[in-house]
Amino acid sequence: MNRVEAYDKVTGRAKYAYEYGVGEVAYAHLVQSTIARGRIRSIDPGQALAMPGVIAVLSSDDPPELGSLDDAELALLQSRAIAYRGQIVAVVVAETPEIARAAERAVRVEYDAEPHDVLLRPDHPGLYPPEKVNPGLPTDTERGDVAGGLADAAVTVDATYTTPTQHNNPMEPHAALAVWADGGLTLYDSSQGVSAERATAAKVLGLPPERVRVISRHVGGGFGSKGTIRPHAVAAALAARATGRPVKIAVTRQQMFEVTGYRTPTIQRLRLGADADGRLTAIAHDVVEQTSTIVEFAEQTATPTRVMYATPALRTTHRLLRLDLPTPSWMRAPGECPGMYALESAMDELAVAAGIDPIELRVMNEPLTEPESGLPFSSRNLVACLREGARRFGWERRDPEPGIRLDGRWLVGTGVASSTYPARRMASRATATAEDGGFIVRIAAADIGTGARTALTRIAAQTLGTSTERVRVEIGDSALPQASLAGGSMGTASWGSAVVKACEAMLKNGAVGSADTTEDVEADSGFARHAFGAQFAEVRVDIDTGELRVPRLLGVFAAGRIIDDSLARSQFIGGMTMGMGMALMEETVVDEEFGDFLNHDLAQYHVAACADVLDIDAVWIEEEDPYLNPMGSKGIGEIGIVGTAAAIANAVYHATGRRIRDLPITPDKLV
Ligand code: MOS
Repeated sequence: MNRVEAYDKVTGRAKYAYEYGVGEVAYAHLVQSTIARGRIRSIDPGQALAMPGVIAVLSSDDPPELGSLDDAELALLQSRAIAYRGQIVAVVVAETPEIARAAERAVRVEYDAEPHDVLLRPDHPGLYPPEKVNPGLPTDTERGDVAGGLADAAVTVDATYTTPTQHNNPMEPHAALAVWADGGLTLYDSSQGVSAERATAAKVLGLPPERVRVISRHVGGGFGSKGTIRPHAVAAALAARATGRPVKIAVTRQQMFEVTGYRTPTIQRLRLGADADGRLTAIAHDVVEQTSTIVEFAEQTATPTRVMYATPALRTTHRLLRLDLPTPSWMRAPGECPGMYALESAMDELAVAAGIDPIELRVMNEPLTEPESGLPFSSRNLVACLREGARRFGWERRDPEPGIRLDGRWLVGTGVASSTYPARRMASRATATAEDGGFIVRIAAADIGTGARTALTRIAAQTLGTSTERVRVEIGDSALPQASLAGGSMGTASWGSAVVKACEAMLKNGAVGSADTTEDVEADSGFARHAFGAQFAEVRVDIDTGELRVPRLLGVFAAGRIIDDSLARSQFIGGMTMGMGMALMEETVVDEEFGDFLNHDLAQYHVAACADVLDIDAVWIEEEDPYLNPMGSKGIGEIGIVGTAAAIANAVYHATGRRIRDLPITPDKLV
């Protein structure tokens, strides 16, 4: 089965947020702060307003009326205080996007700057424990005698790993169109979840939710950056309200770096102890990360360590630092991805120190129950993934000695790492009706390029016992039954549960069925639910230049029932490709002097491209898990990126004998 919207996409008929045409559209452009901390002294829009075609300049000189100001990133133009460089200080509205952009440069803003602090440091006196880490998990956990376990260990690892600031760069940058009519707002936005966006937009704008409609039928990637409403959409709504015109806004690629979130940098200390056979005696995982001065965002970086390995003593901690930078946000596998880079690098170091094969080390420390909670796993097939991957990758031929395989000018090595991601779901509603000789399923789900619409079509057709051609799935509109967002790898599990239930109700009642999964989701407890995987990498490193190639990447996953083979493979290898970018390229550099991100576009922020990806494959093992949802599926959107960077870093060690503990592994670190 092809993607149901494939033809619309390749013919340009599929409309993205910026492409809707409604009446006499005006265009907004954001004006951003040029200092990192301080206050606006004055804003002079005179020169901008004098330009032909400029309609208005909104600023804190005349603060637009807002409802809730709880989220300071969305409380636009309310205050003269500046919390980071790039913060929105004004919005220009003009007849064309070009005029708006030119006028942005003509708005004169004077500041009273104060000294700023933008550098994450592990010894900073401002570090503090947040009350919870995302999504509401305990900040610290401790079980057993960690100090004793480390002291008694025959083999120990004590290493600090760092991951840099990273930015989501979806193919489609953020964009919105805001249209007011009869006191209500319609927002066409590029969004991972229209129901939640409607609720937040209504709150921020002080409207009852039924006066707001959010439409997001096609989305060119999000990875978390479109998981919550971003300030540009609020700016469009305010500009449209102020000017009485429909207003479009396109966030430029450059602006995305300050306006649409980023992955916090992390500093992670890992201490592992093991007995002479390699059985873990203790794990301590201590994380330092950042947030902004205006919103607390606490990434759950150490939480995968609570899930992975059997140990009598286990401690995880998170410490946050408030810096004069934008607020971090969601980026594919937030928490699990950087956390597993550190844990799985440390496990590799332990394997080397103990003289044990890294796969055998992981197998020998496989837990019977979830280490931190003691809950049974609904299913856990990490060992099967490691074994199957070893077989396919040819692991048994591997000589563990590092730095000895030279092929021409290339040092060659292989590495392995485990992968994990939680299998959660959220309450959603759906309806199914018999119409036009077929069936229509309605749910306010989002397809961010993952193929969600297609997966739901398959799920509905299977439940109804009909062909996929006879099912139409309507998504991407908050006027449809309320649904959870495309995030946390929960989309298919959450929406699919509601779709199955609605289709079953329709079969029972006749023409119409509707469903709400709130009670089903509330009953989900008693099991630890996670997907697992094993990542294998081969690298080649030029002995003189440090140039690094990844000729082979293999991921083996155990993620419940796979709904659609080709969509799943695309998700897995997409995640792994992004993991390669994390390992080798992705790094946003913070400029201490100006308090800014230095690299602002794809010329300077490098992501893995097709030419970087050589032989990449993802496979999965059949997994039956009756404790998940009616489909028996686990999420697959994020697990693909988890563990890739560690597998590559471990392969770099095997190739070169050099342990690089600071991502990305650029050539300068290898020469
Ligand atoms: Mo993903 S970072 O949960 O959209």
